[in-house]
Amino acid sequence: MAKTAVYPGSFDPVTMGHMDLIVRTAGIFDQMVVAVLINSEKKSPLFSLDERVIMLKDACKNIPNVSVECFEGLLVDFVRSKGDAVIIRGLRELMDFEMELQMAQVNRIASGEGGEGIETLFLPTDPKYSHISSSVVREYARYRVPLKDFVPENVLKTMMEKGIVTSTKED
Ligand code: PNS
Repeated sequence: MAKTAVYPGSFDPVTMGHMDLIVRTAGIFDQMVVAVLINSEKKSPLFSLDERVIMLKDACKNIPNVSVECFEGLLVDFVRSKGDAVIIRGLRELMDFEMELQMAQVNRIASGEGGEGIETLFLPTDPKYSHISSSVVREYARYRVPLKDFVPENVLKTMMEKGIVTSTKED
């Protein structure tokens, strides 16, 4: 049985929805690795890789069995390097499912000899976070919409320090 879960993504930036998934997954598995993709296809990320990793590490610092790492290339190669591990992805809405199903199937085929490859497990997003995504956060930030409750407090603080947003959770 897999004891490690790998939660891959761009995390540009980590949101409250991601954090909910991280906490819930960490409660199920012995170890959880949050894996940040290096060289995302996204041309202009809001945050550099270093910033994304620092914010994630800070947000996860009180969850003892969670670590944050970066990966390059194929996800399945990274997951294989973690031994007997599974991939975790969240599902917010029906629209996510088509993409995620395809990705899970491709990853399973790409990693399997004789059809038995790395498995992906889906966790449904808590409904109170289903409207939140990193792209919504980035878009709202452009228009200075307050991001209270969309991102963890440390992310909001970083966004304020960078002048990306102007209001805090306390406002
Ligand atoms: O947060 P995102 O952007 O939805 O995460 C997408 C991610 C990082 C999981 C995906 O792009 C990925 O796994 N990229 C690594 C390259 C790879 O393995 N591609 C094959 C899966 S289609």
